[in-house]
Amino acid sequence: MENGELGQVYFGSKIHRKSAYDNLVIREEHTATPAWKMDQPDFQPELIKQEYASFGKGDFRYPAFQITADNGSRISEFTFEKYTLTAGKKRLAALPSSFDDTNDDAETLTILLKDKVTKIELDLSYTVFPNQDVIIRSSQFTNRGTQTAVLNRALSSQIDLPDANYDFIQFSGSWARERQMVRTQLRSGIQNISSLRTASSHQQNPFFMLARPQTTDDHGEVFGFNLIYSGNFLDQVEVDQYDVSRILVGINPAEFAWNLAPNESFQTPEAVISYTDQGMNQLSQQMGAFYMQHLVNPHFAKQERPILINNWEATYFDFNEDKLMKIVNAAKTLGIEMFVLDDGWFGHRNDDKTSLGDWFVDPQKFPNGLAHLADRIHAQKMQFGLWFEPEMISIDSELYQNHPDWMIGAPNRQLSPGRNQFVLDMSRTEVVDYLFEAMSKIITSTKLDYIKWDMNRNITEMFGASLAANEQLEMPHRYILGVYQLYNRLITAFPSVLFESCASGGGRFDLGMMYYAPQAWTSDDTDAVERMHVQFGTSYGYPQSMMGAHVSAVPNDQTGRITPLKTRGDVAYFGDLGYELDITKLSSTEKEAVKQQITFYKKYRRLFQFGNFYRLDNPFENDGNVISWAVVNKDKSCAIGARYQLLNHPNPAYIRLRFKGLDPAKKYVINHGTEKFYGDELMHAGIFVTRSLGKTMDVTDSSDFNSRLFILTQKDD
Ligand code: DGJ
Repeated sequence: MENGELGQVYFGSKIHRKSAYDNLVIREEHTATPAWKMDQPDFQPELIKQEYASFGKGDFRYPAFQITADNGSRISEFTFEKYTLTAGKKRLAALPSSFDDTNDDAETLTILLKDKVTKIELDLSYTVFPNQDVIIRSSQFTNRGTQTAVLNRALSSQIDLPDANYDFIQFSGSWARERQMVRTQLRSGIQNISSLRTASSHQQNPFFMLARPQTTDDHGEVFGFNLIYSGNFLDQVEVDQYDVSRILVGINPAEFAWNLAPNESFQTPEAVISYTDQGMNQLSQQMGAFYMQHLVNPHFAKQERPILINNWEATYFDFNEDKLMKIVNAAKTLGIEMFVLDDGWFGHRNDDKTSLGDWFVDPQKFPNGLAHLADRIHAQKMQFGLWFEPEMISIDSELYQNHPDWMIGAPNRQLSPGRNQFVLDMSRTEVVDYLFEAMSKIITSTKLDYIKWDMNRNITEMFGASLAANEQLEMPHRYILGVYQLYNRLITAFPSVLFESCASGGGRFDLGMMYYAPQAWTSDDTDAVERMHVQFGTSYGYPQSMMGAHVSAVPNDQTGRITPLKTRGDVAYFGDLGYELDITKLSSTEKEAVKQQITFYKKYRRLFQFGNFYRLDNPFENDGNVISWAVVNKDKSCAIGARYQLLNHPNPAYIRLRFKGLDPAKKYVINHGTEKFYGDELMHAGIFVTRSLGKTMDVTDSSDFNSRLFILTQKDD
């Protein structure tokens, strides 16, 4: 712009390139609005779309960043110095990030700006991934001056859209009912979602969309935003007086400040931005494809995930080797591939009041050691997984006896327990070192295949004992950096261990975690009906392979509801399938049904975990009684649709399920029947769901009206 700072011209669907777009940067003088200069009265920052706005020079909207110089001034003027263009996308050093390791799927633009007074440099980084329609943005501040400055605010991305005719679509909830879709119209002023829990949170997920009011899953313009970060975040839209919508995404400026000493840099996390004019199904698919290629650990990204059995809801803390082996042996006969030993195997942990931090095996439960159990499981040709909650400490633990100072707590203040436990100061290297050593020992001795990394409380009395008074606001970010460091060390040392992240279910279901842990425990609510909603909401921002989905016992432990085993399977198939119940207690009929479910899932596992996901009936937009979705494989030769109906009505209307994403010209049979249906017929005319489709041939064969699967297989003449 005229003042040397960066303005924003346009953001949206691809348009032709020109050397200038005068009609997009119109300047109109408004009296009484501060101008940049006497002789340039029509250059008024408040009226201009900015690229990365500062505060205090006439733009009164919330800024993307703010710096306090050593003299207390909070004014910055970052003017253009130069730009560089490079092929590919490098990983960030200390943060999870997108990548293009082969340098052939992305191009990175870095714009260097400089504030001449403080001598701070700002690198704005943009990586364009044209094949997935994703742009990654972040900023880096480097102090080239001689005085320490304080970064009070450093968001990752700003976009000033020229109008406010959008709906803000967020995914909100609570423990055990995460990511419920909420759609509201933008209005004048601020609307935001955020977290101050030092976790991305159950309450608000960092993923959100801005969609035109008429946009649906199938049509219309929509922007998707996310942040590759697991700590406090802010997603904010400010609609200003002229209906310009300023979108800010990044670390929550509340509870944040960073001392930027001479020659030091601060790198923000990366924001993910995507756009399509073809509806929200398309947006979810392109963002999902992007994560699988450029975010998730390539070792696992495309690898089919094992079917596991987890003992948590089966035994809680009450188990020993014999009891577990009975579950393992039964699981083996049903075709389950991995046994995951959940909470309670260490210290003397018979309830949740004790032993966190003591990552050595409980001799009462395992007199022969954990390696003994692991060996027996491996001898069954099954994989072995283990639960850890690395970031936590119990007062009743050897770790606390030895290192009470490793626990986070503010001096002279009572500490607030959460689930009877407290949090370790992950900003301290010695804490990360201790955890790395302790976990490594167990991983090595048990030849571990999988880790469920849990985190069951949010942080209170945030204070870093090793930080100075003026560094305390660095603590929330330093904490998360410590978590990332531990993850990084573990996945580097043990590249074949699959991680699943968890935070009382889906309390840290975010892209920061997904970089290290390719899948996450979606919710502590394993009730099939609740799960339909949770998985439906989650599907907007995250692909199925990221969602751990288990079949559990009935009545369900969270809701008390009784759902048929078939329904429980039909819902859990659309993620990384697992079982979380005492299968030794199942009747032989139920065991047989589980066996069939597993055989069925194995046959279609790639489709379930990696197929393109289409939402068909949205329970958040209809009366909530019907939910349906489908997965379609890459060449559209196979698809599976699911339709769940919660309440039945007598004498119902002729209900049809209409597929999406099929090849209109291909012919398909349904549930291995003989009648052939064209793809266009299935997508536009649909199929009856209130009538029997004739004889079906596998586990999906059921007269259970509440949950029906439709397997489409291409059948040429
Ligand atoms: C919360 C998790 O979400 C559960 O699956 C289980 O691992 C418990 N913690 C164990 O304490």
